[in-house]
Amino acid sequence: MANITIGKNLYRGRETPISFGGADRLRHMYMIGKTGVGKSTVFQNMCLQDILNSSGVCFIDPHGESIDWLLSQIPANRLEDVVLFDPSDAEFPMGLNLLSGKDEQEKDFLVSECIQIFYKMFDPQRTGIIGPQFEHWLRNAALTVMAGSEGGSLVEIPKLFVDKQFELHKRKHLKDPIVLEFWTKQMAKTAEFHRSEMLNYFSSKFGHFLNNELMRNILGQRTNSLDFDYIIEHEKILLINLSKGKIGETNAQMLGLVIMSKLQAAIMKRARQSELSRTPFYLYVDEFQNLVTDTFASLLSESRKYGLGMHLTNQYFAQLPDEVRDAILGNVGTMAAFATGVEDAEILAKEFAPFVKDDFINLERYNFYIKLMVNGKTSEAFSGMSLAPAKIKDKNFAREIVMVNELAYGQPKLLVEERIKQALR
Ligand SMILES: Nc1ncnc2c1ncn2[C@@H]1O[C@H](COP(=O)(O)OP(=O)(O)OP(=O)(O)O)[C@@H](O)[C@H]1O
Ligand SMILES: [Mg+2]
Repeated sequence: MANITIGKNLYRGRETPISFGGADRLRHMYMIGKTGVGKSTVFQNMCLQDILNSSGVCFIDPHGESIDWLLSQIPANRLEDVVLFDPSDAEFPMGLNLLSGKDEQEKDFLVSECIQIFYKMFDPQRTGIIGPQFEHWLRNAALTVMAGSEGGSLVEIPKLFVDKQFELHKRKHLKDPIVLEFWTKQMAKTAEFHRSEMLNYFSSKFGHFLNNELMRNILGQRTNSLDFDYIIEHEKILLINLSKGKIGETNAQMLGLVIMSKLQAAIMKRARQSELSRTPFYLYVDEFQNLVTDTFASLLSESRKYGLGMHLTNQYFAQLPDEVRDAILGNVGTMAAFATGVEDAEILAKEFAPFVKDDFINLERYNFYIKLMVNGKTSEAFSGMSLAPAKIKDKNFAREIVMVNELAYGQPKLLVEERIKQALR
């Protein structure tokens, strides 16, 4: 595992690279700082070095600019490793089925994640908009849709509550007696008006992506274009473009959450692998606050056994649920802070002695303080400067990558729409 450079340290006129590597990377890196200070640029630079070192990486980009930059820098010998997910590519939608798992354990995990996603999107403060009742319906409905060798996707869930034939067909494949009883005992006794109330409720939550063509064509495919196990195992370069401008904020968040769930499912399977056979995989999540669910915190504390090095950044602590913030401060091996506001500076000063509150408030852009993990021990805080990004290179490669990816992973739009129409008929 080659080391990479986070930035440089200037001390008494001497420049030293801030080098990050080995098992220390599997203890993760967190970065905070207000807008425009250079956070995304640091991650871009680090990710490019991983790419040049032939490592497996995933970069989740909320703006698309980092991905455009990375695409322009990919060396020829790694072009074939690039897997580009761009949901705004309407002509060749890639399939992303949250509800398809390779074994029972993975399926159960994905159903739990599905519930978490609905909480995160529609009831982040847990005020009861999504409650135990919805959770119960959703769990049973999701497990039912998944039953049988043909499987099913999220967009088929509302159909279960209106189409008796579909319900009966799916029930034939159910092996789990508890899920079966949900239909034979509970639902059979549920009055019609209550059922339609339930359906309204589902429709209001699922409407966001059922009614949007781009979303339906991605989430409604039963097959997955992206095989996350394969991507991690074979050290691919997975670039996820979640630019809100093109698909809207809610849709971008939904796709990001689904991708994070699929990635987590794949990563968690690696705990069963021997440490030697586990090649490290590096995940970069820019503006990660919209993409974390509860399971994520546990991944942070345990992920050494998964061979995953995570890099997370966001602008200020108040964007994060308290548990996530605590999980980060408690578990992350390497932490860097650019200029922040007063509130965050107060929290950071407690972690970054000898620096004090005002040091964080007064930091020039592209400058940071860092506590770096070196050989398993986190260093005292010291100062650093980020590296300027290289210029965007000739974009020919980028265009070629997009085309190759459409052919390799996308499906022609008309075909996708026909298949989804049939599933929903
Ligand atoms: N070390 C550097 N030297 C010169 N320019 C830089 C450096 N780091 C970043 N930049 C430039 O500064 C601008 C802001 O950087 P960047 O987008 O990385 O900030 P950010 O912290 O991610 O902001 P936001 O929170 O708004 O996403 C970009 O145009 C970037 O190219
Ligand atoms: Mg940024």
